[in-house]
Amino acid sequence: MVSMSKTYFDRVMGAAAFLREKLESATGEAAPQIAMVLGSGLGAAANAVEQPVIVPYAEIPHFPRSTVEGHSGRIVAGPLNGVCVVIMQGRVHYYEGYTPEQVTFPMRVLGALGVRAVVLTNAAGGIKEGYRVGQLVALADHINFTGFNPLVGTNEARFGFRPGSGLRFFDMTEAYSKALRALAREAAQEEGFELDEGVYLALSGPSFETPAEIRAFRTLGATLVGMSTVPETIVARHMGIEVLGISCVTNLAAGLSATRLSHEEVFEAGRQVEDRLARLLERLTPKIAARIRQTAE
Ligand code: HPA
Repeated sequence: MVSMSKTYFDRVMGAAAFLREKLESATGEAAPQIAMVLGSGLGAAANAVEQPVIVPYAEIPHFPRSTVEGHSGRIVAGPLNGVCVVIMQGRVHYYEGYTPEQVTFPMRVLGALGVRAVVLTNAAGGIKEGYRVGQLVALADHINFTGFNPLVGTNEARFGFRPGSGLRFFDMTEAYSKALRALAREAAQEEGFELDEGVYLALSGPSFETPAEIRAFRTLGATLVGMSTVPETIVARHMGIEVLGISCVTNLAAGLSATRLSHEEVFEAGRQVEDRLARLLERLTPKIAARIRQTAE
């Protein structure tokens, strides 16, 4: 018998239907409007979710599974500081061998669930002079040097879940929401620290950069370098989802410190700030919820 292979859109909707069922039966609430993606060693915010619904990626139809240490690979959903959120603890990367469509599959599923705002966190190398290891930086913009764009191919207009989205060509002038950044700054101040803003340059990895590359990227205006986030941001914007990006500077970029770069160093530095990031996200959640209510059509 010939089996009809499902389209990408159908697989996204299938995964979303599965998750919606799980979340609604457990929380009794409509699907969350705020999502978070927690990067390498940055998963602690998920621990603050009350009575969480936990769904390992392996249980979700068509969902990619992370192969990297430090990315636990599960969805944690429930109230965070009184607001229902859906957290992806761990993500998959292009360097693992996943296609751009697979890398952004979870973001598509979040879009299908009705998410309005997403907080993308990552571990990043610090390029700007003055950055300290452990510092959190809100993304003001990005430079896509991954070598791909996840939207190459036929435009799937059905991903336009929000009004005016799902377009072939769309504006990226404010890829990272100014309003969400202002809320993040406010939340950081309440936590007693200043949140700097930076420009994140994304590469495919998995090798770290050379010192010459870092010098070149600095000249281009990048202040942070990493291997994630940008494909997710592009796809989120395609769906009309507001994006807040937060990098944790886990190391100074290549050539800027005496030490060699290693995944262990990145992971360990992430572990050391994940609690501060968790507190920031906890404070931020009701602020984002209030913004969503204000901007409801
Ligand atoms: N380069 C690329 N990706 C990274 C780095 C880095 O220095 N640190 C954490 N992720």
